[in-house]
Amino acid sequence: MEANLNGIRVRYEDVGEGPAMLLLHAFPLAGSMWRRQIEALRGHYRVITPDLRGFGGSDAPPGLYSMDDMADDVATLLQHLGVQRAAVVGLSMGGYVAFALWRRHTDMVAALALADTRAGADSEEGRATRETNARLAEEQGAAAIAARMIPNLVAPTASQALRDELQALIVANALLGIAGALRGMAIRPDSTPDLPGIRVPTLVIVGEEDGLTPPHEAEAMAAQIPGSTLVRIPGAGHLSNMERPDEFNAALLSWLPRAGVA
Ligand code: MLT
Repeated sequence: MEANLNGIRVRYEDVGEGPAMLLLHAFPLAGSMWRRQIEALRGHYRVITPDLRGFGGSDAPPGLYSMDDMADDVATLLQHLGVQRAAVVGLSMGGYVAFALWRRHTDMVAALALADTRAGADSEEGRATRETNARLAEEQGAAAIAARMIPNLVAPTASQALRDELQALIVANALLGIAGALRGMAIRPDSTPDLPGIRVPTLVIVGEEDGLTPPHEAEAMAAQIPGSTLVRIPGAGHLSNMERPDEFNAALLSWLPRAGVA
């Protein structure tokens, strides 16, 4: 499905019935990275999976995409769909967008699941690497980004089929989208000061082999969010929802009713 929102065309899936869930994807992927969750959740929930601006079938306008831009896009999408509040699940970059949504559209967030993400901003070195990668994308294309990123996105034991799926998702993305999101992530603010004020039920999920946003960061984040639940997924790297979908789905499905989303 598609909608024209905030001056761009946004592609999304909206399936199932029940309490609304909004699933926000990682960089540099698309909403279809959630296909294994959609199947597990759609029998109980209304599951909304947008392609964030710059990714999948959504438009990729020139320039930098701040996490605030992306949060405003998904808030406008929820309004367009008549959804007042949703349980928001964000993985990695999707988590950065979820923090921005929490700050800017607090009343729309019924519960938060923060997967393989971090609250902190980029270091100076991290920002420089983003710019290097944005230029790499612009000069050499998405395949160069895929080659650089895939080994870090999944655990060493991840299957070739999963790596192939990631490759296909990444190379389908527009170069303007990849570069725009990299530059937007580089300027995102530190969300750590927000953590103690998160007053909705929160689940923190992390793959035990996540080298990009490692378990100790997830633990530190969970420790600062009042009443949060932390789930560690063995055998998973950064993309824990794709690598260990059964465990990821079980974590969501057991937490959502406890979080009052049922
Ligand atoms: C992601 O998976 O969304 C990215 O690794 C996030 C990042 O580069 O900070």
